[in-house]
Amino acid sequence: MPASSSGVGERPKKRSILDRHKVLEKNITLLTIFAFLVVTIGGIVQIAPLFWLENTIEKVEGMRPYTPLELTGREIYVREGCYVCHSQMIRPMRDEVERYGHYSLAAESQYDHPFQWGSKRTGPDLARVGGRYSDEWHLDHLRDPQSVVPESIMPKYGFLENRLIEGEHVQDLVRTHQLVGVDYTPEMVENASADFKVQANPDADYDGLLERYGETVQVRNFDMRPGISEMDALIAYLQMLGTLVDFSTFTPVDNR
Ligand code: HEC
Repeated sequence: MPASSSGVGERPKKRSILDRHKVLEKNITLLTIFAFLVVTIGGIVQIAPLFWLENTIEKVEGMRPYTPLELTGREIYVREGCYVCHSQMIRPMRDEVERYGHYSLAAESQYDHPFQWGSKRTGPDLARVGGRYSDEWHLDHLRDPQSVVPESIMPKYGFLENRLIEGEHVQDLVRTHQLVGVDYTPEMVENASADFKVQANPDADYDGLLERYGETVQVRNFDMRPGISEMDALIAYLQMLGTLVDFSTFTPVDNR
């Protein structure tokens, strides 16, 4: 007989906590009541503080609703399933921050309906891809990713160049986003179609666009071809990503 069996037969003097737990495990009514209590307490601990917080998203300078062209580009991003391979959320961990830049703030996705955090990174995170490459690079890369990154498994999206958009639905798009809570002003909705057209045309009068969305809005012919194509919209969106907040001046608010 192994030595460890020496304790067999000795009765414990006190009922251990495990023995008491057995009572719960064997009585379905008691177990239900206690499980309900535990879940209720857990729920209150998580939910109640939200009633006392004024806002769960701190206001951050620089954040603005997407311009009609960027918003259209975002629709194309969603339609093409770019989120299947790309995330848009830099987590506050050293390796992420060193690779992609400042970790993502809650405010940076406040205008995203639906959010684009993603759950898989077959390709890199795109939350701060704006300004990292030139428009030409994006153009080459979207037409034929392997031409710039030979080992890339990203599909080709050159067809976007040939799909011109007139922008007849862009006002509805902006209005829909306003409906779900994006702070588009009545002027922004009213001028959606005009703002859409001028952002990809530096020869047009785009003062109104800058007035409504800010001086930092990027205005240029993104695909370097006449007309506004889905490529223009997508590159306008990519070049804006992660550039709205100026992190050289950003200081987090202490919410404690
Ligand atoms: C099948 C997965 C897949 C899909 C779908 C996909 N990508 Fe990619 N993407 C990748 C991979 C892998 C890379 C890294 C290699 C490279 O640069 O091509 C990448 C790289 C990129 C980069 C360069 C990022 C950087 O920091 O170097 C951009 C920009 C990009 N993708 C945009 C897009 C857009 C826009 C779409 C949708 C139209 C898209 N991707 C769809 C896999 C994908």
